[in-house]
Amino acid sequence: MPDCILESVSVAERTVDFVAVLVMAGSGERLGAGVPKAFVMLGGLPLWRHSANTLASLPGCRQVVLVVPADRVARTVGETQDFPVPVRVVPGGARRQDSVGMGLGAATARATVVAIHDAARPMLSRETALAVIREASRSGAALAAVPVRDTLKRVRADGTVESTLDRASLWQAQTPQAFRVEVARAAHAEAARQGLEATDDAALVEALGLSPVHVVRGDPWNFKVTEKPDLEVAEMLLARAGGTP
Ligand code: C5P
Repeated sequence: MPDCILESVSVAERTVDFVAVLVMAGSGERLGAGVPKAFVMLGGLPLWRHSANTLASLPGCRQVVLVVPADRVARTVGETQDFPVPVRVVPGGARRQDSVGMGLGAATARATVVAIHDAARPMLSRETALAVIREASRSGAALAAVPVRDTLKRVRADGTVESTLDRASLWQAQTPQAFRVEVARAAHAEAARQGLEATDDAALVEALGLSPVHVVRGDPWNFKVTEKPDLEVAEMLLARAGGTP
């Protein structure tokens, strides 16, 4: 009986080799901070560093690729000397999709899975990241998401409601979104070839039918810092948690 218990623990906790691609090349103008959003200070560190630390310290992390604004490459390289895994820093592109493509191009470590994460989500937990990475290894593609809580309205340009959506089957997509490496590479290459655009990576995989995409229940704390109040909430949560998400 003890052998069975040990076996189930090792299966549940098997290590998946992965590369983390952290995109942070957006301007983040809605935050109005004067510096790109990912470089705003949060809890004494640049915002990007929180999720980078979380991903780099997970079992199985083989490399971290940081996709940054072109004028921040050199400075960011200087801030990565203390990482526990190899790091590459590359410039991003005009759209998020382009930045992810640059990150995939720079991912050189041998790994089964690539985990793509918005640096703008600093409160990523180890549990959510590992669950998404494991599901991607098992099934090909997975993303963190939370069920929609509010009723959603489709609204016309004149401010009147056109329809009410059935929220029962609606989830809010987050990152990380993880894929077997060959699935992510094929999705981005084929999207570029076909001129397909999407605001997240899973949507490319869905549209191209490259793999079923599985949802892993994330948590509401993994929100995207977009406007000033989001930053204030993140500060409070970090202070409460003693500095680590
Ligand atoms: O604009 P949005 O908040 O959706 O961006 C999500 C993430 O993608 C952010 O971390 C942002 O820095 C990144 N991004 C990027 N390159 C772009 C646009 C956004 O790396 N051209």
